[in-house]
Amino acid sequence: MKKYVKPLTLGSLTLDNNVFYAPLAGCSDYPFRKMSSIYRPGLYFCEMVKMDALIRHDPNTYRLLDYDKDMHPIGAQLCGSKPKLAAECGKILEDLGFDSIDLNCGCPVDKVTKDGSGSGLLKTPEIIGEILHEIKKAVQIPVTVKIRAGWDSNDINAVQITKIAEDAGAAAITIHGRTRVQAYKGFADWSVIADCKKAAKNIKVIGNGDITCGESAKKIFDETNCDGILIARATMGAPWVIKSITDFLEYGQNFSPDFESYKTTLQQHMDYTLNYENNRRFVLSMRRIGCWYLKKFKNAKQLREAINKSKTVEEIKKIFDEFDLAKESFS
Ligand SMILES: Cc1cc2nc3c(=O)[nH]c(=O)nc-3n(C[C@H](O)[C@H](O)[C@H](O)COP(=O)(O)O)c2cc1C
Repeated sequence: MKKYVKPLTLGSLTLDNNVFYAPLAGCSDYPFRKMSSIYRPGLYFCEMVKMDALIRHDPNTYRLLDYDKDMHPIGAQLCGSKPKLAAECGKILEDLGFDSIDLNCGCPVDKVTKDGSGSGLLKTPEIIGEILHEIKKAVQIPVTVKIRAGWDSNDINAVQITKIAEDAGAAAITIHGRTRVQAYKGFADWSVIADCKKAAKNIKVIGNGDITCGESAKKIFDETNCDGILIARATMGAPWVIKSITDFLEYGQNFSPDFESYKTTLQQHMDYTLNYENNRRFVLSMRRIGCWYLKKFKNAKQLREAINKSKTVEEIKKIFDEFDLAKESFS
């Protein structure tokens, strides 16, 4: 039987497995990462940080990079378009103890692309090469890059960027099979990932886009021959998703937690958030996190409304302490 989940080597780093959790701006914060770490994805990421802000030693940016000693291996992701800043940023991240550094070439947001950063870099592949080269020169840890298929359907250049990244010494390239113009609409085109894998000689190819369960994970491995997979939205409110995927790939069965462990997981996520955030930020975070976890419930409208109206820690805690009320609609 084909072995899908296996160790993956990126330069000097050997990861236990090849199923990764994605960087998610505004979502993969420290409590989220602590939850992720329990389920041991091969690698998981902090939210992207801006190069300029890192160099300015902006405290809010450094906070995005919080992690504990027992959370290795953990990756940081840089967002920026200036090769001149890249080496210093790489050194800062290596000194902070990160296990790998990724360059974001996928963020579709106008605010980010307008200075050529994020998916704006897809329009200047040679700058991607320069930035990777600069980081690589400055650090020992593996340097990786995350791209989209291309800017739009007329300019699919992921294969070209794969070769550039490989020449610049990147250990891996993650390809999200959507274009920048697609943003998150439509489907990810995995055939682009297959093309990148065919073109890659040494660089590892990580497939991304629309992987939600064991079946889709198997399909992307089979269709693209990729070396690993990266899961993004399906990790929200489901930190155990890697277990679901690996159980399916190894034993043919998707894991799904029962109500009690579901509730315990949600409460643990709430506790980590409470310990990390001030009261105001806790309430805002729990509105977001609570809604993710409630996706699993058929009649969660009332609970969702209650979370969104709540203004204090006590109100939020009460809702989740009385969560048993939702048991009937758990699917
Ligand atoms: C809310 C949100 C935030 C994201 N933040 C980042 C980010 O900081 N860096 C990055 O490379 N990709 C980011 N992405 C893109 C995802 O990592 C991933 O490439 C994309 O969602 C496709 O994968 P999926 O279908 O598994 O969700 C973000 C996506 C979403 C929905």
